[in-house]
Amino acid sequence: MADARRVLVTGGAGFVGATLVRRLVASGYWVRVFDNYSTGDAEHLAGVEAEQIEGDIRDIAALDSALNGMGAVMHLAAAGSVVASVADPVTNFEVNVLGTFRVLDAARRAGVQRVVLASTGGALIGDATPPVSERSLPRPISPYGASKLAGEGYACAFAHAYGLPTVALRFANVYGPWSARKRGAMTMFFRAIEAGEPIVIYGDGTASRDYIHVDDISRALQLALERDVPGGTVLHIASGVETTVAELADLCRAAAGAPDHPVEHRAPRAGEVARNFATYDLAQQVLGYAPTIRLDEGIHTTWEWFAKHVFTL
Ligand SMILES: NC(=O)c1ccc[n+]([C@@H]2O[C@H](COP(=O)([O-])OP(=O)(O)OC[C@H]3O[C@@H](n4cnc5c(N)ncnc54)[C@H](O)[C@@H]3O)[C@@H](O)[C@H]2O)c1
Repeated sequence: MADARRVLVTGGAGFVGATLVRRLVASGYWVRVFDNYSTGDAEHLAGVEAEQIEGDIRDIAALDSALNGMGAVMHLAAAGSVVASVADPVTNFEVNVLGTFRVLDAARRAGVQRVVLASTGGALIGDATPPVSERSLPRPISPYGASKLAGEGYACAFAHAYGLPTVALRFANVYGPWSARKRGAMTMFFRAIEAGEPIVIYGDGTASRDYIHVDDISRALQLALERDVPGGTVLHIASGVETTVAELADLCRAAAGAPDHPVEHRAPRAGEVARNFATYDLAQQVLGYAPTIRLDEGIHTTWEWFAKHVFTL
Protein backbone atom coordinates (compact mmCIF):
# COMPACT_ATOMS: atom_id res chain seq x y z
CA MET A 1 0.00 0.00 0.00
CA ALA A 2 1.25 3.49 -0.90
CA ASP A 3 2.74 5.50 1.96
CA ALA A 4 0.08 7.86 3.35
CA ARG A 5 2.82 10.33 4.31
CA ARG A 6 3.52 10.98 0.62
CA VAL A 7 0.96 13.57 -0.45
CA LEU A 8 0.12 14.99 -3.86
CA VAL A 9 -1.23 18.56 -3.60
CA THR A 10 -2.99 19.68 -6.80
CA GLY A 11 -3.01 23.47 -7.08
CA GLY A 12 -0.33 23.56 -4.38
CA ALA A 13 1.32 26.65 -5.88
CA GLY A 14 -1.80 28.75 -5.28
CA PHE A 15 -2.88 30.87 -2.34
CA VAL A 16 -4.16 28.10 -0.01
CA GLY A 17 -1.47 25.71 -1.27
CA ALA A 18 1.35 28.05 -0.22
CA THR A 19 0.32 27.73 3.44
CA LEU A 20 -0.89 24.12 3.29
CA VAL A 21 2.28 22.78 1.64
CA ARG A 22 4.48 24.54 4.23
CA ARG A 23 2.34 23.07 6.99
CA LEU A 24 2.49 19.52 5.61
CA VAL A 25 6.26 19.68 5.03
CA ALA A 26 6.75 21.00 8.59
CA SER A 27 4.63 18.08 9.85
CA GLY A 28 6.96 15.55 8.19
CA TYR A 29 5.04 14.80 4.97
CA TRP A 30 6.81 14.29 1.65
CA VAL A 31 4.90 16.61 -0.68
CA ARG A 32 4.60 16.70 -4.47
CA VAL A 33 2.82 19.73 -5.94
CA PHE A 34 0.95 19.38 -9.26
CA ASP A 35 0.02 22.74 -10.78
CA ASN A 36 -0.35 24.37 -14.19
CA TYR A 37 0.57 27.79 -12.73
CA SER A 38 -2.50 29.44 -14.31
CA THR A 39 -3.20 31.44 -11.14
CA GLY A 40 -0.48 29.98 -8.91
CA ASP A 41 3.23 30.65 -8.93
CA ALA A 42 6.19 28.32 -8.32
CA GLU A 43 7.74 31.21 -6.36
CA HIS A 44 5.04 30.81 -3.69
CA LEU A 45 6.95 27.72 -2.60
CA ALA A 46 10.49 29.07 -2.99
CA GLY A 47 12.74 27.45 -0.41
CA VAL A 48 10.09 24.87 0.58
CA GLU A 49 11.16 21.21 0.54
CA ALA A 50 8.45 20.08 -1.88
CA GLU A 51 8.68 18.64 -5.37
CA GLN A 52 6.87 20.68 -8.04
CA ILE A 53 5.50 19.16 -11.25
CA GLU A 54 3.93 21.31 -13.96
CA GLY A 55 0.76 19.67 -15.27
CA ASP A 56 -2.95 20.06 -15.85
CA ILE A 57 -5.61 18.14 -13.91
CA ARG A 58 -7.45 17.51 -17.18
CA ASP A 59 -4.43 15.47 -18.42
CA ILE A 60 -4.99 11.80 -17.48
CA ALA A 61 -1.44 10.60 -18.24
CA ALA A 62 0.14 13.49 -16.31
CA LEU A 63 -2.06 12.73 -13.29
CA ASP A 64 -1.23 9.00 -13.38
CA SER A 65 2.45 9.80 -13.44
CA ALA A 66 2.16 12.41 -10.65
CA LEU A 67 0.27 9.93 -8.45
CA ASN A 68 2.97 7.29 -8.75
CA GLY A 69 4.03 6.39 -5.18
CA MET A 70 1.59 8.82 -3.55
CA GLY A 71 -0.54 7.75 -0.60
CA ALA A 72 -2.94 10.71 -0.42
CA VAL A 73 -4.24 13.61 -2.50
CA MET A 74 -5.17 17.12 -1.42
CA HIS A 75 -7.13 18.48 -4.38
CA LEU A 76 -6.99 22.29 -4.43
CA ALA A 77 -6.57 22.97 -8.17
CA ALA A 78 -9.56 24.83 -9.57
CA ALA A 79 -10.83 27.74 -11.58
CA GLY A 80 -11.70 29.57 -8.38
CA SER A 81 -13.53 32.73 -9.39
CA VAL A 82 -17.32 33.14 -9.28
CA VAL A 83 -17.16 36.18 -11.58
CA ALA A 84 -14.90 34.40 -14.12
CA SER A 85 -17.23 31.37 -14.09
CA VAL A 86 -20.17 33.56 -15.12
CA ALA A 87 -18.10 35.02 -17.98
CA ASP A 88 -16.67 31.64 -19.10
CA PRO A 89 -18.71 28.67 -17.80
CA VAL A 90 -17.05 26.23 -20.23
CA THR A 91 -13.53 26.63 -18.82
CA ASN A 92 -14.96 26.51 -15.31
CA PHE A 93 -16.71 23.22 -16.12
CA GLU A 94 -13.66 21.69 -17.76
CA VAL A 95 -11.29 22.51 -14.90
CA ASN A 96 -13.59 22.02 -11.91
CA VAL A 97 -15.92 19.21 -13.03
CA LEU A 98 -13.91 17.24 -15.61
CA GLY A 99 -10.61 18.01 -13.84
CA THR A 100 -11.94 16.95 -10.43
CA PHE A 101 -13.43 13.79 -11.97
CA ARG A 102 -10.03 12.96 -13.46
CA VAL A 103 -8.24 13.56 -10.15
CA LEU A 104 -10.69 11.21 -8.40
CA ASP A 105 -10.41 8.59 -11.12
CA ALA A 106 -6.60 8.73 -11.06
CA ALA A 107 -6.67 8.49 -7.23
CA ARG A 108 -8.92 5.43 -7.53
CA ARG A 109 -6.51 3.76 -9.95
CA ALA A 110 -3.57 4.61 -7.69
CA GLY A 111 -5.35 3.18 -4.63
CA VAL A 112 -4.61 6.16 -2.40
CA GLN A 113 -5.68 6.16 1.25
CA ARG A 114 -7.27 9.60 1.35
CA VAL A 115 -8.50 12.30 -1.05
CA VAL A 116 -9.35 15.68 0.48
CA LEU A 117 -11.15 18.09 -1.85
CA ALA A 118 -11.47 21.86 -1.57
CA SER A 119 -15.12 22.77 -1.99
CA THR A 120 -17.00 25.95 -1.19
CA GLY A 121 -19.76 27.00 1.19
CA GLY A 122 -21.45 30.19 -0.01
CA ALA A 123 -21.29 29.68 -3.76
CA LEU A 124 -22.45 26.06 -3.56
CA ILE A 125 -25.43 26.63 -1.27
CA GLY A 126 -26.54 29.82 -3.07
CA ASP A 127 -28.96 32.35 -1.64
CA ALA A 128 -30.15 30.75 1.62
CA THR A 129 -30.88 32.27 5.00
CA PRO A 130 -27.64 31.91 6.97
CA PRO A 131 -26.12 30.27 8.88
CA VAL A 132 -25.79 27.48 6.33
CA SER A 133 -24.71 23.97 7.31
CA GLU A 134 -24.37 20.48 5.83
CA ARG A 135 -28.17 20.24 6.12
CA SER A 136 -28.79 23.27 3.85
CA LEU A 137 -30.11 22.43 0.39
CA PRO A 138 -27.48 23.31 -2.25
CA ARG A 139 -28.92 25.59 -4.90
CA PRO A 140 -25.90 27.24 -6.58
CA ILE A 141 -26.46 30.50 -8.43
CA SER A 142 -23.14 30.56 -10.34
CA PRO A 143 -21.41 28.04 -12.63
CA TYR A 144 -18.57 27.98 -10.06
CA GLY A 145 -20.96 26.88 -7.28
CA ALA A 146 -22.50 24.25 -9.57
CA SER A 147 -19.05 22.91 -10.52
CA LYS A 148 -18.06 22.46 -6.87
CA LEU A 149 -21.35 20.67 -6.13
CA ALA A 150 -20.67 18.33 -9.06
CA GLY A 151 -17.18 17.62 -7.65
CA GLU A 152 -18.67 16.74 -4.26
CA GLY A 153 -21.16 14.47 -6.04
CA TYR A 154 -18.39 12.50 -7.74
CA ALA A 155 -16.36 12.36 -4.51
CA CYS A 156 -19.33 10.82 -2.70
CA ALA A 157 -20.05 8.43 -5.59
CA PHE A 158 -16.41 7.28 -5.76
CA ALA A 159 -16.47 6.66 -1.99
CA HIS A 160 -19.52 4.44 -2.29
CA ALA A 161 -18.88 2.78 -5.66
CA TYR A 162 -15.13 2.16 -5.25
CA GLY A 163 -14.39 2.65 -1.55
CA LEU A 164 -12.23 5.75 -2.28
CA PRO A 165 -11.88 7.58 1.08
CA THR A 166 -12.88 11.11 0.06
CA VAL A 167 -13.61 14.14 2.26
CA ALA A 168 -14.84 17.46 0.84
CA LEU A 169 -14.28 20.63 2.86
CA ARG A 170 -16.54 23.57 2.06
CA PHE A 171 -14.35 26.60 2.70
CA ALA A 172 -15.77 29.94 3.73
CA ASN A 173 -14.00 33.03 2.27
CA VAL A 174 -10.32 32.42 2.84
CA TYR A 175 -7.84 35.25 3.48
CA GLY A 176 -4.23 35.55 4.62
CA PRO A 177 -0.66 35.60 3.27
CA TRP A 178 0.10 34.61 -0.35
CA SER A 179 -3.23 36.07 -1.55
CA ALA A 180 -1.69 38.88 -3.64
CA ARG A 181 -2.81 37.24 -6.92
CA LYS A 182 -6.40 36.74 -5.70
CA ARG A 183 -9.21 39.13 -6.68
CA GLY A 184 -11.24 38.75 -3.48
CA ALA A 185 -12.51 41.75 -1.52
CA MET A 186 -9.68 41.94 1.02
CA THR A 187 -6.91 41.84 -1.60
CA MET A 188 -8.68 44.46 -3.71
CA PHE A 189 -9.26 46.71 -0.67
CA PHE A 190 -5.60 46.48 0.37
CA ARG A 191 -4.45 47.24 -3.19
CA ALA A 192 -6.81 50.25 -3.42
CA ILE A 193 -5.53 51.66 -0.12
CA GLU A 194 -1.92 51.18 -1.19
CA ALA A 195 -2.56 52.81 -4.60
CA GLY A 196 -4.41 55.76 -3.01
CA GLU A 197 -7.56 54.88 -4.97
CA PRO A 198 -11.08 54.51 -3.51
CA ILE A 199 -12.09 51.10 -2.14
CA VAL A 200 -14.79 49.72 -4.51
CA ILE A 201 -17.77 47.99 -2.91
CA TYR A 202 -20.23 46.22 -5.24
CA GLY A 203 -23.70 46.86 -3.82
CA ASP A 204 -24.61 48.88 -0.73
CA GLY A 205 -22.14 47.17 1.63
CA THR A 206 -24.70 44.99 3.42
CA ALA A 207 -23.69 41.82 1.52
CA SER A 208 -21.99 39.51 4.02
CA ARG A 209 -19.43 36.71 4.07
CA ASP A 210 -17.74 34.37 6.53
CA TYR A 211 -13.98 35.06 6.56
CA ILE A 212 -11.57 32.34 7.61
CA HIS A 213 -7.80 32.62 7.91
CA VAL A 214 -5.74 30.38 5.63
CA ASP A 215 -3.92 28.94 8.69
CA ASP A 216 -7.26 27.67 10.05
CA ILE A 217 -8.20 26.25 6.62
CA SER A 218 -4.83 24.49 6.34
CA ARG A 219 -5.22 23.00 9.82
CA ALA A 220 -8.67 21.68 8.83
CA LEU A 221 -7.21 20.21 5.62
CA GLN A 222 -4.53 18.39 7.63
CA LEU A 223 -7.15 17.09 10.09
CA ALA A 224 -9.22 15.79 7.15
CA LEU A 225 -6.11 14.05 5.83
CA GLU A 226 -5.33 12.36 9.14
CA ARG A 227 -8.65 11.64 10.87
CA ASP A 228 -10.55 8.43 10.17
CA VAL A 229 -13.57 10.01 8.49
CA PRO A 230 -16.04 7.96 6.39
CA GLY A 231 -15.62 8.38 2.61
CA GLY A 232 -18.05 10.86 1.05
CA THR A 233 -18.05 13.14 4.11
CA VAL A 234 -18.77 16.85 3.47
CA LEU A 235 -17.91 19.49 6.10
CA HIS A 236 -18.19 23.27 6.29
CA ILE A 237 -14.97 24.94 7.44
CA ALA A 238 -15.88 28.44 8.52
CA SER A 239 -15.57 31.00 11.28
CA GLY A 240 -19.30 31.06 12.06
CA VAL A 241 -19.14 34.88 12.06
CA GLU A 242 -21.09 37.07 9.61
CA THR A 243 -19.18 40.12 8.38
CA THR A 244 -20.64 42.66 5.97
CA VAL A 245 -18.53 44.08 3.14
CA ALA A 246 -18.79 47.51 4.78
CA GLU A 247 -17.42 46.05 8.06
CA LEU A 248 -14.63 44.32 6.13
CA ALA A 249 -13.70 47.61 4.47
CA ASP A 250 -13.57 49.28 7.91
CA LEU A 251 -11.33 46.51 9.31
CA CYS A 252 -9.01 46.77 6.28
CA ARG A 253 -8.83 50.56 6.60
CA ALA A 254 -8.07 50.24 10.32
CA ALA A 255 -5.37 47.59 9.74
CA ALA A 256 -3.74 49.84 7.14
CA GLY A 257 -3.87 52.86 9.45
CA ALA A 258 -6.17 54.66 6.96
CA PRO A 259 -9.58 54.79 8.71
CA ASP A 260 -10.84 57.60 6.45
CA HIS A 261 -9.78 56.09 3.12
CA PRO A 262 -12.60 56.78 0.57
CA VAL A 263 -15.11 54.10 -0.46
CA GLU A 264 -17.00 54.00 -3.77
CA HIS A 265 -20.17 51.93 -4.35
CA ARG A 266 -20.93 50.19 -7.66
CA ALA A 267 -23.78 47.91 -8.88
CA PRO A 268 -23.78 44.35 -7.41
CA ARG A 269 -22.32 41.60 -9.63
CA ALA A 270 -24.22 38.59 -11.07
CA GLY A 271 -23.74 35.18 -9.44
CA GLU A 272 -22.71 36.51 -6.03
CA VAL A 273 -24.84 35.60 -3.00
CA ALA A 274 -26.23 38.38 -0.81
CA ARG A 275 -25.58 36.99 2.68
CA ASN A 276 -23.46 34.09 3.84
CA PHE A 277 -21.97 32.58 6.94
CA ALA A 278 -21.77 28.96 8.02
CA THR A 279 -21.74 26.82 11.15
CA TYR A 280 -18.77 24.50 11.70
CA ASP A 281 -20.45 22.26 14.31
CA LEU A 282 -20.09 19.07 12.27
CA ALA A 283 -16.41 19.74 11.51
CA GLN A 284 -15.87 20.29 15.23
CA GLN A 285 -17.55 16.98 15.99
CA VAL A 286 -15.89 14.96 13.22
CA LEU A 287 -12.43 16.58 12.98
CA GLY A 288 -12.07 18.48 16.25
CA TYR A 289 -11.84 21.65 14.13
CA ALA A 290 -12.50 25.14 15.49
CA PRO A 291 -11.19 28.45 14.11
CA THR A 292 -8.43 30.09 16.14
CA ILE A 293 -7.75 33.44 14.44
CA ARG A 294 -10.06 36.42 15.05
CA LEU A 295 -10.82 38.48 11.95
CA ASP A 296 -9.41 41.79 13.22
CA GLU A 297 -6.13 40.08 14.22
CA GLY A 298 -5.95 38.10 10.98
CA ILE A 299 -6.55 41.19 8.84
CA HIS A 300 -3.86 43.04 10.75
CA THR A 301 -1.20 40.37 10.12
CA THR A 302 -2.34 39.98 6.50
CA TRP A 303 -1.90 43.73 5.92
CA GLU A 304 1.58 43.46 7.45
CA TRP A 305 2.36 40.57 5.08
CA PHE A 306 1.23 42.66 2.07
CA ALA A 307 3.23 45.64 3.29
CA LYS A 308 6.37 43.50 3.59
CA HIS A 309 6.07 41.15 0.59
CA VAL A 310 3.90 42.90 -2.00
CA PHE A 311 3.92 46.68 -1.63
CA THR A 312 7.68 47.00 -1.22
CA LEU A 313 8.42 45.32 -4.58
N1 LIG B 1 -9.82 31.31 -1.54
C1 LIG B 1 -11.07 31.13 -1.15
O1 LIG B 1 -11.69 32.02 -0.53
C2 LIG B 1 -11.78 29.83 -1.42
C3 LIG B 1 -13.07 29.67 -0.94
C4 LIG B 1 -13.74 28.48 -1.19
C5 LIG B 1 -13.10 27.47 -1.89
N2 LIG B 1 -11.84 27.64 -2.35
C6 LIG B 1 -11.20 26.55 -3.11
O2 LIG B 1 -9.93 26.29 -2.56
C7 LIG B 1 -9.04 25.84 -3.59
C8 LIG B 1 -7.78 26.67 -3.57
O3 LIG B 1 -8.15 28.03 -3.83
P1 LIG B 1 -7.10 29.22 -3.84
O4 LIG B 1 -7.81 30.38 -3.27
O5 LIG B 1 -5.80 28.77 -3.31
O6 LIG B 1 -7.00 29.47 -5.42
P2 LIG B 1 -5.71 29.72 -6.34
O7 LIG B 1 -6.26 30.14 -7.68
O8 LIG B 1 -4.73 30.58 -5.69
O9 LIG B 1 -5.10 28.26 -6.43
C9 LIG B 1 -5.53 27.30 -7.37
C10 LIG B 1 -4.29 26.63 -7.92
O10 LIG B 1 -4.71 25.65 -8.89
C11 LIG B 1 -3.90 25.79 -10.05
N3 LIG B 1 -4.71 25.33 -11.18
C12 LIG B 1 -5.79 25.94 -11.73
N4 LIG B 1 -6.25 25.22 -12.76
C13 LIG B 1 -5.45 24.12 -12.86
C14 LIG B 1 -5.43 23.00 -13.73
N5 LIG B 1 -6.31 22.88 -14.74
N6 LIG B 1 -4.48 22.05 -13.53
C15 LIG B 1 -3.56 22.18 -12.53
N7 LIG B 1 -3.53 23.24 -11.69
C16 LIG B 1 -4.47 24.18 -11.85
C17 LIG B 1 -3.56 27.27 -10.12
O11 LIG B 1 -2.42 27.55 -10.88
C18 LIG B 1 -3.37 27.61 -8.64
O12 LIG B 1 -2.04 27.39 -8.22
C19 LIG B 1 -9.84 25.91 -4.89
O13 LIG B 1 -10.36 24.64 -5.16
C20 LIG B 1 -10.95 26.88 -4.58
O14 LIG B 1 -12.09 26.68 -5.39
C21 LIG B 1 -11.15 28.81 -2.13
